[in-house]
Amino acid sequence: MDHHYAEPHEVMYHTQLSREMLMGADTALLPGDPGRVRSLAEAMGPTVDLTSHREYTSCLTQVQNRPVLVQNRPVLVCSTGMGGPSTAICLEELARLGIKRVIRVGTTGSIQEGLELGDVVIIKAAVRLEGTSAHYAPLEFPAVADFELTQLLAYAALVESVPHQVGICCSSDTFWPGQERYDSFTGYVLRRFQGSMKEWQQLGVTNYEMETATVFVTAQALGLQAASLCGVVAKRTESESIASPEIYRLAENRFQTIVRRALNELLAREGKK
Ligand code: URA
Repeated sequence: MDHHYAEPHEVMYHTQLSREMLMGADTALLPGDPGRVRSLAEAMGPTVDLTSHREYTSCLTQVQNRPVLVQNRPVLVCSTGMGGPSTAICLEELARLGIKRVIRVGTTGSIQEGLELGDVVIIKAAVRLEGTSAHYAPLEFPAVADFELTQLLAYAALVESVPHQVGICCSSDTFWPGQERYDSFTGYVLRRFQGSMKEWQQLGVTNYEMETATVFVTAQALGLQAASLCGVVAKRTESESIASPEIYRLAENRFQTIVRRALNELLAREGKK
């Protein structure tokens, strides 16, 4: 298959990034929220801002070794925006710029008892309750994470003693009906989705979010490795609401800890190759 890498100095239409700006980065962290890019990058190490256009805000970060022994390749942090379409656009452009590995770092609503606010879900597979991934692979095709990268995240969570579970998410195109929320403007949930949360629970699905299925399927179609982890900011077995900013910060601290440890391990392994 012919791959269309960006030409020297070519600037991508949506992300406004070029290969030169990435300084050799081949790994990208992908939060949904542009407002979380800088704090995520700074939690990894010294950071420089790159650009901001539409929902795509980006930074480069130099992941700090403990102790600082070698200068690692920088890691790109780039927001995807909310939902499948903007996420797939982001992946397409990053692939053209030479990114080989992506880790979604997001937030989520848990639907199983025992997954508490502030816990982290490391996602091994996703229900494709979204439309974008069907533009890359038929619905029969699974949305699965890269095994090695996921194992690395789970190991990092374990050694850092971060409360976590490895689970299956349901990636929905909507925050309200697709996630069977009734606290919307009309309060109406289409018949198709009424009772759907109970069914997902019965099947062992752990959480709702909006991007991971697109990340997994699109990454597979583009030949990238992909993983995803999300901090729990809504506990749907108790409430439809999003938790307080304090819980949000707790979840954020925890997923940052996992990602920092995992990247350290990954870059150290690469340095030995
Ligand atoms: N993100 C979602 O998509 N759903 C939630 O409940 C929380 C975060």
